[in-house]
Amino acid sequence: MTRRARIVGTGSYLPQTILTNAELAARVDTSDEWIVERTGIRQRHIAAEGEFTSDLATAAARRALEAAGIDAAQVDLIIVATATPDQTFPACATVVQHKLGMTAGVAFDVNAVCSGFLYALSVADAMIVTGAANTALVIGAETFSRLLDWEDRGTCVLFGDGSGAVVLRAETGSGAATDRGILAHRLHSDGRYNDLLYVDGGAGSTGTVGKLRMKGREVFRHAVTNLAAVMTETLAAADLKAEDVAWVIPHQANLRILQGTAKKLGLPIERVVVTVDRHANTSAASVPLALDTAVRDGRIKPFDLLLLEAMGGGFTWGAAAVRW
Ligand code: UT7
Repeated sequence: MTRRARIVGTGSYLPQTILTNAELAARVDTSDEWIVERTGIRQRHIAAEGEFTSDLATAAARRALEAAGIDAAQVDLIIVATATPDQTFPACATVVQHKLGMTAGVAFDVNAVCSGFLYALSVADAMIVTGAANTALVIGAETFSRLLDWEDRGTCVLFGDGSGAVVLRAETGSGAATDRGILAHRLHSDGRYNDLLYVDGGAGSTGTVGKLRMKGREVFRHAVTNLAAVMTETLAAADLKAEDVAWVIPHQANLRILQGTAKKLGLPIERVVVTVDRHANTSAASVPLALDTAVRDGRIKPFDLLLLEAMGGGFTWGAAAVRW
């Protein structure tokens, strides 16, 4: 018998305001046709003035707790994956903890940019498996709209705001790949590529927040290769094959990356959950947002094998195999 972390509830939240490609085309030299053809994005959600990452995170967390039928008081670990915390410190996770009315447990942030949710999920899984935690809230939440240079058409059309959350609970499994819960995860980073995707400011350097900068074409080139490799590595770690996968739940950066990765694994695009058209790239929020979307619309069924994956600034990348 072995301890497993199982996802027992999901939730997500999107700010009310929608920004369409046509509206962006009125601001910068771009077009709906270019954005749709090169990225698959049609619209993105933008946080309202005074609506912060912790608000988005708390809304998703409440929905995940409700879906799990678990009271916030039972949670003993909160990890928020974000690169856009409300303040440099305290950690967004402690703000969420307070907003949920909790006064106990452990709460901290993880910053691995777009891979943040995979990193946070892996840390929470490790803490549950070793007995350091029993019930965890793992949240990806971002307000990337506040990091964008709205005059740079190469980046401002790509991102949006949102949040997603899962509740993980310790359960007993047999240790086999038929167990429900997190079966395996693999993470990677390579700091040689810091300058391909970064923010040109920070609390410890310029004393300013800075704006997102990206060499998109080069990030794209690495993305398909790295993602396909880590997905294959993660499946092998769980003694599973690509044909066992019911749903790929990918980071939603670009539809062409999703298509290219699926092709490399020999999976049809129909088995990939796609939300990039409606949400754009919400960084650490995109995987749990896509997961919650496919759980709530009934696509994901008990015992389905899910393969979650993401890649982002750093570079960082990772994947997780989850039996639903
Ligand atoms: O979440 C973290 C991971 N991030 C990613 O995975 C992003 C990866 N990169 C991408 O998704 C793509 O590289 C982009 C969508 C960013 C760009 O697509 P691309 O096909 O790689 O285009 P490109 O950068 O090679 O640019 C092609 C042309 C350029 O014009 P010239 O130099 O050929 O005349 C750009 O200036 O498209 C131009 N361009 C635009 N045109 C209209 C760039 N952005 C735009 C735009 N509208 N918004």
